[in-house]
Amino acid sequence: MPGHLLRNDLRAHPPRAVTAEGVWITDTEGKRYLDGCSGAVVSNIGHGHPTVVQAIREQAGRLTFAHRSAFDTAALTDLADRLCAFTGLDAAWFVGSGSEATEAAIQLAVQFHRERGEPRRTQFVSFRRGYHGNTLGGLSLSGNARRDAVAELVHDFPALPEPYAYRFQGGRTESEWVADLVAGARRVLAERAETLAAVVVEPVGGATMGATVPPIRYLRAIRELCDKLGLLLVADEVMSGMGRCGTPLAIDQFGVRPDIAVVGKGLGAGYTPIAAALVDGRVHEALLAGSGRVLGGHTYAGNPLSARTALAVLDVLEEEAVLERGARAAVRLRSGLQTIAARHPLVAETRGLGMLQAIELDVDGSTPQGARAQRLSAAARERGLLLYPTTGGVNDALLVAPPLTITDDELDELLARLSDAVEALAATEGDR
Ligand SMILES: Cc1ncc(COP(=O)(O)O)c(C=O)c1O
Repeated sequence: MPGHLLRNDLRAHPPRAVTAEGVWITDTEGKRYLDGCSGAVVSNIGHGHPTVVQAIREQAGRLTFAHRSAFDTAALTDLADRLCAFTGLDAAWFVGSGSEATEAAIQLAVQFHRERGEPRRTQFVSFRRGYHGNTLGGLSLSGNARRDAVAELVHDFPALPEPYAYRFQGGRTESEWVADLVAGARRVLAERAETLAAVVVEPVGGATMGATVPPIRYLRAIRELCDKLGLLLVADEVMSGMGRCGTPLAIDQFGVRPDIAVVGKGLGAGYTPIAAALVDGRVHEALLAGSGRVLGGHTYAGNPLSARTALAVLDVLEEEAVLERGARAAVRLRSGLQTIAARHPLVAETRGLGMLQAIELDVDGSTPQGARAQRLSAAARERGLLLYPTTGGVNDALLVAPPLTITDDELDELLARLSDAVEALAATEGDR
């Protein structure tokens, strides 16, 4: 019997998770899995954190829902204040998922230009192989395989050359490659400048590109082009933000300020669905000076239970110096991954920023894109290690992104299991 649940893979029979604590998830058979990818790069502070669990209990006993059209809640206004202080942006619009937040950023950017008398600015540009969410707006900005399934429904926005050195630098020096990236961006943006609302970038490529880190000069040049041509810069930090890469937003490390930043995943950190589009002062002021309204909204957006939960996550980040701990763990993770790559020819590259790291597997052209990464993910799972194979169908990469709170011993265990899985995969492939 297939049962009544529609899963992504209708033929799959995944184990049933029952409890989780720290970096470990346990299934009904008692098998423990080391969460080497924080779910989908979500659980930045690990599972079952008592501070967050207690906050959920207290808020649930007091107030779980009061619709925002009728009430403010202390939880939500406090969260807006704390999140803006954390990220340096000026105002927060809350939603329930990263896709909704990207969608909100799209609508806010269009509104910003309309309020300022430029209604023709309704088009967007993003990196060719980014991932920005599973709505028609998010997929319009994405080069992920999911886009192909709804190709006739999404907008055919122009794309910028993606900063993906391993695949696309070729024989060029870094400096030649970056010059070509910048020239390509200048051409794409200048050609249609009057109709563009914003450039949307992942400061570190995630679900599709697998922890690709753009050259600093490329992101800075994009910022300058946006300023020159009157476009907004949207940083999609759903995966890279909330401390995952070592700073509140990953783009902080590039010395670039976005006009809108989108955060999700690590904001609720696996304890609640919540995400936000954060706007800087200029965008906020334009909305205030214009219609004075934001037209979007979702029923559960900004509910006090999720807001209080996210506040507790921020408490943990600050009180337990989680970003600093993550930065230390990242050094160990990176060097461990490099050791594995040096030992196993199957691992062609390691890359990433902070605790958003990836390995890319060598593909000889005979395997479909993604299949080898899926096999490694399965071998790791057998050994009780969870990894995140990229979902775009354009490479064989896996994200390695455990909770920032992982201990040294747990990290060593992760690396040992990964090395073991790579070895096992190499052995089976050699057997063929
Ligand atoms: C950069 C980025 N933007 C948007 C999304 C969509 O977020 P969600 O899956 O919460 O809708 C994701 C999810 O992986 C993401 O990585």
